Amino acid sequence: VEQPRRRTIRDVRKGDVPGVWLTAYTAPMARLLDGHVDVMLVGDSLGMVVYGMPDTLGVGMDMMIAHGAAVVRASRQALVVVDMPFGSYQESPAQAFRNAARIMAETGCGAVKLEGGTEMAATVSFLVQRGIPVCGHVGLMPQAVNTTGGFRTQGRDEQQARKVHDDAHAIAAAGAFAVVLEGTIEPLAREIATSVPVPVIGIGASPACDGQVLVVDDMLGVFGTFTPRFVRRYADVGNVIEDAAARYADDVRARRFPGPEECFGVRRQVTPG
Ligand code: KIV
Ligand code: NA
Repeated sequence: VEQPRRRTIRDVRKGDVPGVWLTAYTAPMARLLDGHVDVMLVGDSLGMVVYGMPDTLGVGMDMMIAHGAAVVRASRQALVVVDMPFGSYQESPAQAFRNAARIMAETGCGAVKLEGGTEMAATVSFLVQRGIPVCGHVGLMPQAVNTTGGFRTQGRDEQQARKVHDDAHAIAAAGAFAVVLEGTIEPLAREIATSVPVPVIGIGASPACDGQVLVVDDMLGVFGTFTPRFVRRYADVGNVIEDAAARYADDVRARRFPGPEECFGVRRQVTPG
């Protein structure tokens, strides 16, 4: 039987069927998602989702590499894209290359993603020209919360709309193979998806995008404290886990767990006849 080959950036195209992206941070999740998605994004959102941080600023290189490597090891088909964490690329193209090369080499991922618009275009082009496939990320940029004043939807006024448009075009022109467009009003997101020559992957953006991405825990209903409006809940795994924990607790306290069949060296009851 022929093994399906792993997707590459050449499989991320503009076309009739939108690209299916989800975040993944761990081996078991990567194994479950691998047959269903085109791209698994090891997002720096893992700082909030997995580590309980208030934002993504505390995420570092070692954390991204550990989780990126786990997702690559546990998948065979999906293209794995790893986020560059805050502080690992903003300083200079050389710093960005050094850290992106480390992420690629130590995880085996197929591409990296970084946030930023026109100001990051030179960096994107520096990386792409030296063998590192880059996905852009414009619109709402979580690593910039402290300069933009919070997690705010972008494009509500004309000046801001112009900026998001220019950012997306600059990153595409710099050689990014795709651009994630986050938290942007729908008409603007639609205009950007239509006019940018590379695939535009939406999150809180527009159905007109060339692909969609969600944080997997949000979609599964695991990260229950706050669910943004743009998330559709496909499962209520949080309740499933709580229910299992409650039943396990009841069984242990009532000495119903473990039973004889869950112990070693216990003679099975022999049914006569
Ligand atoms: O970190 C992340 O999960 C992301 C996606 C929301 C696009 O960047
Ligand atoms: Na991210």
